[in-house]
Amino acid sequence: MPIPQRSKPQRGLWSSRLGFVMASAGSAVGLGNIWKFPYITGMHGGGAFVLFYIFCILVVGIPLMLGEMVIGRHTHKNPVGAFKSLKGGAWTAVGWLGVIAGFVILSYYGVVAGWAVDYLWLALRGAFGSQHASKVPELFTELLSSDLRQLFWQAVFMASAIGIVLGGVRKGLERANKIMMPILFLILVFLAGYGIFSPGGPAALHFLFYPDWSKFDSRGMLEALGQALFSLSLGMGAMLTYGSYADEKTNLPTAAFSVSFMDTCVALLSGIAIFPIVFTYGMLPAGGPGLVFKTLPIVFTRMPAGNMFAVLFFLLLVFAALSSAISLLEVVVSYYCDEQKWSRHKATLLIGFFIFLFGVPSALSNNLLKEFHLIGDRNFLDSVDFLASNYLLPLGGLLITVFTGWVLTTRLAKEEIEKGAVRFHFYPVWHFLIKYISPVLVAIVFLHTVGLL
Ligand code: TRP
Repeated sequence: MPIPQRSKPQRGLWSSRLGFVMASAGSAVGLGNIWKFPYITGMHGGGAFVLFYIFCILVVGIPLMLGEMVIGRHTHKNPVGAFKSLKGGAWTAVGWLGVIAGFVILSYYGVVAGWAVDYLWLALRGAFGSQHASKVPELFTELLSSDLRQLFWQAVFMASAIGIVLGGVRKGLERANKIMMPILFLILVFLAGYGIFSPGGPAALHFLFYPDWSKFDSRGMLEALGQALFSLSLGMGAMLTYGSYADEKTNLPTAAFSVSFMDTCVALLSGIAIFPIVFTYGMLPAGGPGLVFKTLPIVFTRMPAGNMFAVLFFLLLVFAALSSAISLLEVVVSYYCDEQKWSRHKATLLIGFFIFLFGVPSALSNNLLKEFHLIGDRNFLDSVDFLASNYLLPLGGLLITVFTGWVLTTRLAKEEIEKGAVRFHFYPVWHFLIKYISPVLVAIVFLHTVGLL
């Protein structure tokens, strides 16, 4: 009889380091990059915001991602189990915060992703051809005015995410990402290339990369840092969970760096794909959250082969959302598998179903529940998003940086990183950032959000 391994009971491992990096990049690259990044960049004036965003990725994002990955691989556990075994006591709550955030974020993420699936379906039926130009602006309003339609696509999307996570670490998560990520990248490069050579290309590049500091204020700074955390999937143990499936030979600093690099490239490429179209057709860069669903589709109808571009674009959006959704689901599922000893099958189906149910009010928030305001004058979907992005993630991010720098200690982290004969050249830099700089920066953002600063 084989000797049971007590520390790693039947947990999955990635089959290769590439698989790990691809899956983590899949988690990071999502609606946050393609839908949110261009529109908040547009609202905050372009270049200066982009520069500050990159600064946040370098100073907070990469150090924190490495921190999460180290905790995960060191313990080979889900977030709750990881903090419990490393320190226990109140720190276990950080793991809980992550599991709750995963549950909450995925509930509404599934609804917005459902819109993307709906648009993909519309595109496949030729709705963005030039003959439909006049009808396109109403498409989004039509979609939001039908509860059933939103519920249906949310269900389709959630079922796909559940299907992938059911397959487990290698056959589900890793394989899906290895297929989706390269396709996504190709489509995006193609669209960005098209953008650059369109008439609005130069104006878009100027807008994105020429910093005009007069249009940039402290609110923009806060948004940039919050967006950096969300986009890199940080602050709730998603990278911790993926790191827990990595083996000792994996070079974690390289992984954290490559994932952040890819994520940033995809965000910038999305900007390069979207803004030239916006400028070519004289639209406003500050169009807000509707940029992808309202502005862009109008443009598809006006360009040659526009419907094909629409199909490509929404396929891209659905892939990106799906690979992120599975990481959110995996965080919660890993908790129930590890700590409650549920089978992966049971955990995935049950948790997936409950997350879907919890997302139903978000799907109904534009109609049936229009009058139901949870926080301020926000509808249900916006309230839950607000709660998660502005409270759960920054708080989680703050606590994880403090934990890594001060409780786990950077010295122990260094040992973990160097286990598989990996040399950690940037240790002094990382040590300084994760211990002193990242916590202070995240704390400032958080205190500002809760109104204490
Ligand atoms: N990073 C993803 C995006 O950009 C969303 C996401 C997936 C996420 N997992 C996460 C956000 C964990 C925060 C935490 O769309």
